[in-house]
Amino acid sequence: MEREETLLSRRAFAGMLGAGATYAALNPKILGANQPELMPLKSGAGVVRLSANENPYGPSQPAIKAMKDAFSLAWRYPDEYADALVETIARLHSVGREQVILGDGSGEILKLCASAFTNSSKKVVLAEPTFEAIMRYAAASGGEALKVALTQDYRHDLAKMLDASSDAGLIYICNPNNPTGTITLKEDVRAFLGKLPQTVAVLVDEAYYHYAETNDYESVIPLISEHSNLIVARTFSKIYGMAGLRCGYAVAQASAIKSLREHQVWDNVNIMAVVAANASLDDSKHVEDGRRVNSETKRFLYNELERLGFKYIPSQTNFMMIDLRRDARPLIAAMKGRGVEVGRFFPALPNFMRVTIGRRSEMQAFLSAFRELIQSNVNA
Ligand SMILES: Cc1ncc(COP(=O)(O)O)c(C=O)c1O
Repeated sequence: MEREETLLSRRAFAGMLGAGATYAALNPKILGANQPELMPLKSGAGVVRLSANENPYGPSQPAIKAMKDAFSLAWRYPDEYADALVETIARLHSVGREQVILGDGSGEILKLCASAFTNSSKKVVLAEPTFEAIMRYAAASGGEALKVALTQDYRHDLAKMLDASSDAGLIYICNPNNPTGTITLKEDVRAFLGKLPQTVAVLVDEAYYHYAETNDYESVIPLISEHSNLIVARTFSKIYGMAGLRCGYAVAQASAIKSLREHQVWDNVNIMAVVAANASLDDSKHVEDGRRVNSETKRFLYNELERLGFKYIPSQTNFMMIDLRRDARPLIAAMKGRGVEVGRFFPALPNFMRVTIGRRSEMQAFLSAFRELIQSNVNA
């Protein structure tokens, strides 16, 4: 396969090391939303990484500038800057500061919820398949997982999740859902929240909120005032392009935030991530552009897959599931062999391959490897 042209050449990368590295690492010509260059990835030069639902356009220019300006603050603990970010988030969602908690990525929020609300007699209820991290975190607190299959149209089966809630401490709703890229309808989520006893905590993970394009979907942050058991997680890793920086947050009523805080490390988010996150929230154009480019590239992929005769699950996110009509494992491995990393295998959907929507050039690399493998009938 042709070397991915978006990567810096080896010589250019070597030149960045040393005195010029700081400038080069922060130069908007090298990193940033409108720029074609990306740093070489750990997974190897030339590898097209479509496996982790990252945003290849990176942080916004104001976020990069904020980090650059914060270099001289590296000796300080981040508390004042974290307070400023909490203030911005609280204003954004029209809630009090005591209703916001920052996480070292939204992954930390999931872990805090598992620690606070599950134990050997309080289970976590989650969909199958969904983002499984919460299950591992609950297991560490002795909390068993109760999995409820998605509906035929890949939505959370909220009626069954409600039935399963009697010995649950926590219900996890990933909306939009990873790995299916589907949403659970806003009226169904509202009705579910109305029926769930307030003694059971419910975590709605909105990591992919900004990518959703349908009116059938909504954020449940405005419903927090009515539900003391509702916690909503958001991240800067996806539309804001900051997965490597690690910053996320939760919004909930103050009592729930207090329960989470008891399990948290002090000064958990580093100062670079905090200032970049704060600056990102001021740049709505970066969000709009990211959503639009993702949507256009996704549509390009839809068309190409249709031409090849493949079905897929229409996605409301920056990744999608392709129906291979056969065990996905050999193809996932063969794609890797051709330098294209796609999502891991999901046993609940064994015939599907999850692909992150990268740049157009990355999707072209994906398609050329995919076409070749399909034609050579890799599973045969
Ligand atoms: C649904 C969902 N939630 C949470 C996360 C964790 O993201 P982060 O810790 O980078 O915020 C991911 C990561 O892919 C995800 O897909």
